[in-house]
Amino acid sequence: MNSRSVCLLVWTGWLGCFCLGAWAAQTPRTVPINDVEESVPPYSLPEVLTLRNGQRVTSAQHWPRRRAELVHLFEDHVYGRIPSGLPRQPGWVVETRRDAFGGKAIRQRIQIPLTRGPNPILLDLLVYRPSQATKPVPVFLGLNFDGNHTVTHEADVPLARGWVANRPRSSVTNHIANEASRGTDAEAWPIDRILERGYGLATAYYGDAEADFDGGWKQGLRGTVAPQGADHHFEPSDWGSIAAWSWALSRALDQLSLDPAIDAQKVALLGHSRLGKTALWAGARDPRFAMVIANESGEGGAALARRFFGETTLRINTSFPHWFNGRFKDYNHRIADLPVDQHELVALIAPRPVYIASAEQDRWADPKGEYLSGWHASKVYRLLGKEGLPGPDLPAVNRSVGESVGYHIRSGPHALTEVDWEFYLKYADRHLR
Ligand code: GCU
Repeated sequence: MNSRSVCLLVWTGWLGCFCLGAWAAQTPRTVPINDVEESVPPYSLPEVLTLRNGQRVTSAQHWPRRRAELVHLFEDHVYGRIPSGLPRQPGWVVETRRDAFGGKAIRQRIQIPLTRGPNPILLDLLVYRPSQATKPVPVFLGLNFDGNHTVTHEADVPLARGWVANRPRSSVTNHIANEASRGTDAEAWPIDRILERGYGLATAYYGDAEADFDGGWKQGLRGTVAPQGADHHFEPSDWGSIAAWSWALSRALDQLSLDPAIDAQKVALLGHSRLGKTALWAGARDPRFAMVIANESGEGGAALARRFFGETTLRINTSFPHWFNGRFKDYNHRIADLPVDQHELVALIAPRPVYIASAEQDRWADPKGEYLSGWHASKVYRLLGKEGLPGPDLPAVNRSVGESVGYHIRSGPHALTEVDWEFYLKYADRHLR
């Protein structure tokens, strides 16, 4: 080895150390995290029934004013404002099959244009409804993580078109969906069971609206509708990707409302994890959703932001800066100043039924913080003449509690499972039938 290459080696070594150091300084792993219940410091929540000007809301009649105020606060400080004037265009049915699931279901594939122009962004909505139904059916609507082809083993559901996440279980390594990923998420979507119980299911891949990485917006909904396109400079209150996905959910509901075989007054929105956060925000914004189910939605979803347990605002804003608006980052180190907390997000769904679910091993999502959100939101439900959760204590595992605010904590890890679905189907039977 000559002296030049030794020099180069030493130099690259130093550069490597420097880069690694810089990376370590920024990596989310350095962000403090607590998962010991006894170490949760005291915190005080904003009062859900007090307006910013100090006035108390004491009757159902005055709730809409506080509700509107809270929607604006969540837009300005957390999820971002959706630009006005976005198109709401009907979709077109690409295919109808009357023999899906052995004749149990009528399956439709529908494309909904989310933007204008000759090459709009398309949301592919996959809809199943029981073929034996004699009247319009209630429907579960939920975004999926990896493409419509992953929720079913049926061979003729096309693979997701755009960017998908790389995952070992679906053997996607280059962000392009492949046949090996077909049906890999089918356990999370028990279509057979949903149909047997008399419900329809509508699902779409969230990445159709916008790919889930920082920068995914450029080719996605937010970049496409921005006047400067991919050169758009985001203002602090501009929308993040959760708001963009939630917009797509409302467009899916528009589409379902056009189908006389579907009871659009009975659409239950369901989402898991980041898509549980999205479902809560979509249900909070759009009162047409009859019910909202947030499965293990955690930080930025049902979990209280001020409770220092599991994922924190700083951590989520570091790992997933694109999910929320720019202003939300101002609270990374001063969460007590955030003018809202997540119990108020849950309260925005009142008086419609809302169901929050946790998993015992999913400490990252803070099960207790998720439950407490529902408990503190219950105050608004009571004001509106409904019953919420029974008390401040987390219930035993695998038991469903509550009325218009429902809750269970399932044993096991972070996932959407058949056990969760059984609770949701029972809850829907109670509230949507
Ligand atoms: C990460 C993230 C969570 C999110 C989850 C998911 O764990 O920190 O906030 O809910 O991903 O969406 O799977």
